[in-house]
Amino acid sequence: MHILENPYLWHLFRIIIDIIFKYDKAKKDYMDVLGGGLIVSTANILDLGCGIGNLCTLFDDKCHYTGIELNPKYIEYANKKFAGENRQFISADAVAYSFNEMKKYDLVCLFDFLHHLDDEHCLQILESSGRLSKKNIVITEPIDSPENKPIQKVLQRFDRGKYIRSNARMKELIKEAGLTILENPKGNIFLLTNATNYGK
Ligand SMILES: C[S@@+](CC[C@H](N)C(=O)[O-])C[C@H]1O[C@@H](n2cnc3c(N)ncnc32)[C@H](O)[C@@H]1O
Repeated sequence: MHILENPYLWHLFRIIIDIIFKYDKAKKDYMDVLGGGLIVSTANILDLGCGIGNLCTLFDDKCHYTGIELNPKYIEYANKKFAGENRQFISADAVAYSFNEMKKYDLVCLFDFLHHLDDEHCLQILESSGRLSKKNIVITEPIDSPENKPIQKVLQRFDRGKYIRSNARMKELIKEAGLTILENPKGNIFLLTNATNYGK
């Protein structure tokens, strides 16, 4: 078993990554920017591969947040640390999960999740995110780039995702899934829409 399967150690690792790369702040800033009309305080949020569920704290308490995560120990931890009236943490394989596709979410989040999936499953998740989202999907991903600093490479290797892709490969998969990139402010953050008439 990889030591990061332990929720306490993963939480610590997540905090270290966030401090070194100011990653949490970048996500928060990005969420605040998106908050301009996209995420209302009562939004329905779906977070796939939610880990220990800590990223539910990016959203207003009144948001309805559903996190889906493969590792049951992470879900146990999420329920202990981040439980809330409007928060639901589900222990399941997001690839095989039978979503009620009649239920649509204001935002589908794929935070540092897709590099855990091979291309076939990654495409499946992008496609189901498109179907489940009313309009928007947000992705953050570690990106394989020659510009990555040595510390980034070490941390990426230590994390368990085997499928770290280049920005160009991410863009190909997003296109193949029928989604459109609205913003890609940094190599590793994408805001997508499933709506072809967005902004019209
Ligand atoms: C790098 S962690 C990111 C966790 C969290 N989203 C974050 O940003 O802190 C990726 C997570 O995806 C989960 N995962 C991998 N494959 C999965 C699957 N098929 N369904 C649900 N979760 C999965 C892993 O267990 C792990 O917790």
